[in-house]
Amino acid sequence: MSPTIEIIPAGQWGEAVGGRLARFLAERPGTRLCLPTGSTPGPAYAAFAAGGGRLDRTEVFLLDEFVLPAGHPARCDEMIRRDFLDLLDHGPAALHQLDPGAESLTDECARYEALIAGSGLDLTLLGIGGNGHIGLNEPGSAPDGITRIVGLASSTVEAAARYGEGAPPQMGLTLGLAAVLASREIWLLVTGEHKAGILYEALHGPVGSDVPASFLQEHPNTIVLTDEAAAGLLG
Ligand code: GLP
Repeated sequence: MSPTIEIIPAGQWGEAVGGRLARFLAERPGTRLCLPTGSTPGPAYAAFAAGGGRLDRTEVFLLDEFVLPAGHPARCDEMIRRDFLDLLDHGPAALHQLDPGAESLTDECARYEALIAGSGLDLTLLGIGGNGHIGLNEPGSAPDGITRIVGLASSTVEAAARYGEGAPPQMGLTLGLAAVLASREIWLLVTGEHKAGILYEALHGPVGSDVPASFLQEHPNTIVLTDEAAAGLLG
C-alpha cells in the first residue's frame, strides 16, 4: 500500500503534527515511539509541548546518534532534550538511545537492535535527508540492514554542521532500515521547498537503496505529513 499523503498549510504544520502525536499517544498508553532530530520536527515538538502533551506513558527510542562527545550541541540526545524533552511537564516513561561513547560500538549497536526487536516499535517519526536518507541510513543502505556504525555522506556532514558549533561528525550510529520498516506505523515529516525534489523521488521514484526513503513505498502504514512547499512537485 502506498503512503497516505497529508498536505498541511505551512503556518499550521507544527500544530497539526504535534496535535496528531498528542492524540495518538493519549489513545495508546505504552506506545513504543521512535523519534528523529534535525530541524524538521522542531515545530511539531514545540506545539506538542505547548498543547500540554505528555510522554509519561510512552517509551521513547532515539532513531540515531552522531559520533560526537557527550554534551556536544549537535548530538541527537542534546537536540531532542533542547527541542522537545525540556519543554515538557511530563517527560518520557523511558528514554533509550545509542551511546557513541560505548567501549565497543558494535556491541552497543547489537544491544539497541535487541532492545527494539523485543516488542518492536509502534510509531516511528522520520525526517528525510536531502539525499534520501532516513535515520542515518545513507544511500546504499539495504532494506534489511541492522543497527550499525555508518560513515556519513558529505551532504549529511554539511547538514550536521548547522546543528552545533565545532567540527561536524563524520560517523553516526543508526537504527537499521529493517527495524524502521518493521515499525507498525511511520510518519514521514517533510517541510520546505528544498525537500520537494527528494520527497518526489522517495514517493514516485524506483524503490531501492539509492534513495533509502523510497522503501517507505512498500510499508503498509506510512503517512507523509508535509507542508505545501515540500509537496510542490507531488502534483
Ligand atoms: C539528519 C538526521 C535525520 C534527519 C535528517 C533531516 O542527518 N540524522 O534523522 O531526519 O538528517 O534533517 P533536517 O530535518 O534537519 O533536514
